[in-house]
Amino acid sequence: MSQRTVLITGGAGFIGSHLVKRFLKLHDYRILTLDKLTYAGHLGNLAEVLHHPNHSFVKGDICDEALLDKLFQEENISDVIHLAAESHVDRSIESPLEFVQTNVIGTVTLLNSAKKHWQGNANKRFHHVSTDEVFGSLGEHGAFNEHTSYDPRSPYSSSKASSDHFVRAYGHTYGMNTVISNCSNNYGPNQFPEKLIPLMINNIVKHHPLPVYGEGLNVRDWLWVEDHVEALDLVFHQGKTGDSYNIGGNEEWKNIDLVHALCEQMDQLLGRQPGSAASLITHVKDRAGHDLRYAIDASKIKAELNWEPKMSFENGLRATALWYLENDSWLDSVMDGSYRDYYERQYQKR
Ligand code: NAD
Ligand code: DAU
Repeated sequence: MSQRTVLITGGAGFIGSHLVKRFLKLHDYRILTLDKLTYAGHLGNLAEVLHHPNHSFVKGDICDEALLDKLFQEENISDVIHLAAESHVDRSIESPLEFVQTNVIGTVTLLNSAKKHWQGNANKRFHHVSTDEVFGSLGEHGAFNEHTSYDPRSPYSSSKASSDHFVRAYGHTYGMNTVISNCSNNYGPNQFPEKLIPLMINNIVKHHPLPVYGEGLNVRDWLWVEDHVEALDLVFHQGKTGDSYNIGGNEEWKNIDLVHALCEQMDQLLGRQPGSAASLITHVKDRAGHDLRYAIDASKIKAELNWEPKMSFENGLRATALWYLENDSWLDSVMDGSYRDYYERQYQKR
């Protein structure tokens, strides 16, 4: 049997780069990484595998039909794991159309190419990587399971929900072998510093204010990125065709409590006075339409695929903080161009 060639989109981003590295380490597949290298994508995330004999990197856009057709034709792609997306909720509030373009049009363009080239071959798998945000917002109790109705409430989550629907529709209508995973908030090395945890770490190091939206009472369920990619590996290989799997960390934290826990760790790691980082906490204007709480019921993936998260939040947070402290050159290199301008404007204003 010929070697599988797995196309991983968004492989130069945060989660995608961990997945590419895991697959090259554990599976004898050819991996083709397709990434547009937006502000969020960095080849440095893939430095140790860029020249791996089983790996090729292609810079390109998932909306580029001609490029996709060429790749499917010339590279004999056997499977797709689709992570490429605009991923930041605050940006989606500023520029919804960019999210429609990549997350909706890009996903459908990719589905079309796969459908055209796979011609109904049910062995060829399309795994769509999605988010728990498609389910909307919870009150104090309960958790999202695979039967929870979709209720996206931000432009980001609406675009992801739409892409999920298209993936299901292609499975149902054209018989494609699709599977979807919906995951909670990831954290760990290589996460772009606009997201809560790396943003706070970076600001603590620089003695900049720590912007907590509103009262900081919103709750997120945090998952170590390596635990997520292990779950993706299982869903890709063993998930049932047409099904979806919820993936979560079972680590619910109010934002304000999380920021305090991080401040304590950072004071220790930086050898600063206790309370020094926490004195930087600044409550700022809330995110528009801010979802109150997300929580995942991950009992299906536990029962069917025997997956559960391994990393405790305390250890994961410490490992993340240490990684950022030891990789300040990574931070410098990703904070180039427009994001550095944006960041500097933010903190000059204060
Ligand atoms: P990220 O923003 O770090 O990476 C996204 C990658 O996609 C980048 O490398 C970017 O260059 C690439 N990309 C963007 N537009 C593209 C386009 N048009 N064509 C090709 N490449 C393009 O995102 P992430 O946090 O790694 O998230 C990856 C996926 O996982 C996304 O689909 C996201 O919705 C989903 N997800 C993320 C989380 C999380 O907590 N980060 C949780 C659940 C699901
Ligand atoms: O739930 C999964 C989702 O988690 C993914 O689908 C998204 O791609 C990912 O970005 C993430 O979305 P969130 O909006 O939850 O993540 P973010 O890191 O932007 O914010 C986490 C929480 O922290 C949220 O309640 C908003 C708050 N926040 C965020 C930032 C950036 C602040 O209080 N201050 C900040 O500066």
